[in-house]
Amino acid sequence: MCYLKIIVFSFSSLRLPAVVFHCHSALQGIIVRSACLCKVFFQNYTSIAACPLTAGWMRKMRSMWQKSHTVSHSCLSLQGLRSLHMDFFNFRLPLLILAALGCYSEGSPLLNNKINGVIGKYVTFKTTVILTPNFVTVTWNFNDGSKIAPIITSIVPSNTDNVDEKYAGRISYNKTTFELQLGPLVKEDGGEYTLTIVTDKGQQLTGQVDLEVLEPVTDVMILSNPPEAVEFNSTVNLTCSAKGSFTYKWMNGSVPLVVDGTHIKLNQVGNVLTIAEVRRTDLRGPIFCIAENPLESGRSAAFNLTKVNMTQTPTDSFLKKGSNLTFSCLAQSDPPAQLLWKFNGEELPQKTTASLTLTNVQEINSGNYSCVAYNMKTKRYVSSQITVVSVLEALSGTNISSSSSVLIDGYSTVNITCSAAAGKAESVEWLKGDKPLTPSERVILSADKKTLTIVKVVKEDAGDYKCQLKNKVNKDESTYKMVINYGPLNVKVEGKNAVKFEEPAKLLCFADSVPISKYSWKLNGTVMNISQAEINIEKAKVTDSGIYTCEAFNPITGKTETKTHKLAVTEVGAVDEGLSGGAIAGIVIGVLVAVIIIACIIKRKKKANSDIPSPY
Ligand SMILES: *[C@@H]1O[C@H](CO)[C@@H](O)[C@H](O)[C@H]1NC(C)=O
Ligand SMILES: *[C@@H]1O[C@H](CO)[C@@H](O)[C@H](O)[C@H]1NC(C)=O
Ligand SMILES: *[C@@H]1O[C@H](CO)[C@@H](O)[C@H](O)[C@H]1NC(C)=O
Ligand SMILES: *[C@@H]1O[C@H](CO)[C@@H](O)[C@H](O)[C@H]1NC(C)=O
Ligand SMILES: *[C@@H]1O[C@H](CO)[C@@H](O)[C@H](O)[C@H]1NC(C)=O
Ligand SMILES: *[C@@H]1O[C@H](CO)[C@@H](O)[C@H](O)[C@H]1NC(C)=O
Ligand SMILES: *[C@@H]1O[C@H](CO)[C@@H](O)[C@H](O)[C@H]1NC(C)=O
Ligand SMILES: *[C@@H]1O[C@H](CO)[C@@H](O)[C@H](O)[C@H]1NC(C)=O
Ligand SMILES: *[C@@H]1O[C@H](CO)[C@@H](O)[C@H](O)[C@H]1NC(C)=O
Ligand SMILES: *[C@@H]1O[C@H](CO)[C@@H](O)[C@H](O)[C@H]1NC(C)=O
Ligand SMILES: *[C@@H]1O[C@H](CO)[C@@H](O)[C@H](O)[C@H]1NC(C)=O
Ligand SMILES: *[C@@H]1O[C@H](CO)[C@@H](O)[C@H](O)[C@H]1NC(C)=O
Repeated sequence: MCYLKIIVFSFSSLRLPAVVFHCHSALQGIIVRSACLCKVFFQNYTSIAACPLTAGWMRKMRSMWQKSHTVSHSCLSLQGLRSLHMDFFNFRLPLLILAALGCYSEGSPLLNNKINGVIGKYVTFKTTVILTPNFVTVTWNFNDGSKIAPIITSIVPSNTDNVDEKYAGRISYNKTTFELQLGPLVKEDGGEYTLTIVTDKGQQLTGQVDLEVLEPVTDVMILSNPPEAVEFNSTVNLTCSAKGSFTYKWMNGSVPLVVDGTHIKLNQVGNVLTIAEVRRTDLRGPIFCIAENPLESGRSAAFNLTKVNMTQTPTDSFLKKGSNLTFSCLAQSDPPAQLLWKFNGEELPQKTTASLTLTNVQEINSGNYSCVAYNMKTKRYVSSQITVVSVLEALSGTNISSSSSVLIDGYSTVNITCSAAAGKAESVEWLKGDKPLTPSERVILSADKKTLTIVKVVKEDAGDYKCQLKNKVNKDESTYKMVINYGPLNVKVEGKNAVKFEEPAKLLCFADSVPISKYSWKLNGTVMNISQAEINIEKAKVTDSGIYTCEAFNPITGKTETKTHKLAVTEVGAVDEGLSGGAIAGIVIGVLVAVIIIACIIKRKKKANSDIPSPY
C-alpha cells in the first residue's frame, strides 16, 4: 500500500474545497491500481501554518525522492492533477516528490479490501479504527476507475461533514468509527472506496475497499434441447439461464449433481448440462439449477419430463365398499400419449382409456393407482403421481345386546355390548341420555370399549344408553333402553278416615315400583276380592268401617309392602268428623250460652224463693 502525502501551502486565504489526487504506483514493475490516493483539504491559515514547508524541508524531500527512486518506488503519474485548482500548479514538484515518498505500506484502517453488494440493497464499509483526538480530517472517496470523486469529508475539530451532493441521502456516516453505509446501491456504485484519515501531525491512515455491485438473481430456469428426449437414444442438453450476477450450480434432488464426464457432462461455464443416452431415472432427482453469488441465490423449478396428471373422483382416500371410483389421466404429449393404468405397480390389462372407472369397489380394490403415458414417437413412459385408495365396509346394523334381560336394583350386574352387523369400527363412544358416559367403579368399559359393565345396578342407572361406532367411511349408532326393576317403596293410601252413612268412599293405594306393583286389599285382616289400587264404595254402610290394608307386590323383585288405613262410617246425622273449626266453636259457644241461661234461671228461681215470698 502506498499513499500520496500532500502538504498544501497557499499565500492567499483561498478556501479550496477538498481536492483529490490519484496516482498509480509501480512496485517492481507491477502496476497496482489504487493505493496512492489522498485527499487534501485546504484548511484556514492557522492550520496551514503548522505545515513545515521550508526550504530546508524541501531539500530534504528532494533527496529522499532521489533515494526512493533508487529503490524503484515511484508513482508513475498523478491523474487528476489537471483538475486541481490553478493555485496548486506551482506546487507540482513538491507534490510529486511527496507522492513518491508516500509509497510505503501501512495497516489499513479498513476491515476488508473487497466487498459485495446487490443492486437495491445497502452495503457498509467497515473500519478498524475509532476516533482519537489527534484526527483532523476523515475522508471517503470513490474511484470508478476513471476519476476520483469525494463522498464525504469530515473535519473533526469543527465537527463538520461535507457530503457531496451526489451522495446526499444515500450515505450514512458514523462519526465514531468512520464507517460508511451506502445504498440503495446502483450498478455505478461499483469501484474503489478509499478512507483517508489525516492526523494533526500530517500523518495519514489510508485504506481501500473494492465494492462489486451484483445484480439480483432472477428468472432462473432450465431449457431442454431436444424438448422431447428419447430414452436411451437421446443426448439431452439442459441449459440453465438466469438474470443477474451469479455462478451456476446443478442439483440432483438435495445433493449437488455429480458429473462423470461421460454420461453426464457440464460445459466450462457451467450452464449447460449434457446427459448422454438419457434415462428416466437420471431426471428423477429432480434436477434443478441454482444461480448464486456470495449474497444471493436463485433456484430454477425442477426439470420435469412430460407431465402426467391423474385425478380421482371422489377425492377421498377412504371409500365405502360398493361405491364407484373414477380416475382420469391427463398427459401433455405430442403425438397424444397412449395411456396405461397401473394398480400396485402392475399394469391393468386392456385399460387404455383416459379414465378408469371402478364400480362397486371391494376391499381388494384397495391399493396404489397410477397412470402411465407412453409417447409412441419418443418411446417414453411417464408415470403420474401414485394415489393410494382404501376401500372399507361401511358400518351398519349397529345394535346393543344385554347379558341379562331383567335387572334388579341392588342385585344385578349387567354387560351391554355394542356391535355392528357389518363394517369394522375404529372408535366407540357411549352416551347416557345425551351426555358422554362417565365410567366409575361400578360403570366399567371394556378395553375395546364395546362392552359396558354395570355392577350392582341401581335404579338411577335406568335410561337410554347410546353407542356410536365410527370408521373412516361412516358412523352408525344404536340406543338401548335400560330398565331397572325395584320396589315397591313408599306405599301410601289416600282417602278419608270417616264418611257419613250412604255417602261414597274412595281409597287409593300407591307404591313406587318398577314394574307397577300388583295390589290387594284386606279389611280387618280379611282378604278382599279387590286387585286394583283403588277401592270405590258408592254408598258406605256401617260394615264398611274397619282397618283397610293395602298390599303392594312387585312380581319381579318379589317384594311386598303394606300400608293400613282406618275408615269409619258414621250413623245418619252423627257428627263425628268433618266439622269445620268454626262449626265446632259455634257449638261450644252455643252450649256455653245454654249453660249460662240455665244457670241464670236456676239462680233467679232460688232468689225468688228466698227474697220474695211466694205468692202461692
Ligand atoms: C479557521 O478554522 C477555525 C477552526 O478550525 C475557525 O474557528 C476559524 O474561524 C477559521 N478561520 C477562517 C479565516 O476561516
Ligand atoms: C457508530 O458505531 C458505533 C460502533 O459500532 C456505534 O456504537 C454507534 O452507535 C454508531 N453511531 C451511529 C450514529 O450510528
Ligand atoms: C436409436 O437410434 C438409432 C440410430 O440412431 C435408431 O436406429 C433407433 O431406432 C433409435 N431408437 C429409438 C428408440 O429411437
Ligand atoms: C448439446 O451441447 C453441446 C455443447 O455443449 C453441443 O455440441 C450439442 O450439439 C448440443 N446438443 C443438442 C442436442 O443441443
Ligand atoms: C440423480 O441421482 C440418482 C440417484 O439418487 C441417479 O440415479 C441419477 O442418475 C442422478 N441423475 C443425474 C443426472 O446425475
Ligand atoms: C416440475 O414438477 C414439480 C412438481 O410437480 C413442480 O413443482 C415444478 O414447477 C415443475 N417444473 C417445471 C419446470 O414446470
Ligand atoms: C392435476 O389436475 C388438476 C385438475 O385438472 C389440478 O387441480 C392439479 O393441480 C393438477 N396437478 C398437477 C400436479 O399438475
Ligand atoms: C355405480 O355405477 C353404477 C353404474 O354406472 C350405478 O348403477 C350405481 O348406481 C353407481 N353406484 C353408486 C353408489 O353411485
Ligand atoms: C403403495 O404405496 C405406498 C407408498 O406410497 C407403499 O408403502 C405401499 O407398499 C404400496 N402398496 C402396494 C400394495 O404396493
Ligand atoms: C338388536 O338386537 C336385539 C336382540 O339382541 C333384537 O331384538 C333387535 O331387533 C336388534 N335390533 C336391530 C336394529 O338389529
Ligand atoms: C361381562 O363381561 C365381563 C368381561 O367384560 C365378563 O367377565 C363377564 O362374565 C360378563 N358378564 C356377563 C353376565 O356376561
Ligand atoms: C272391623 O272392626 C271394627 C272394630 O274394630 C268394627 O267396627 C267393624 O264392624 C269391623 N268390620 C267388619 C266388616 O268386620
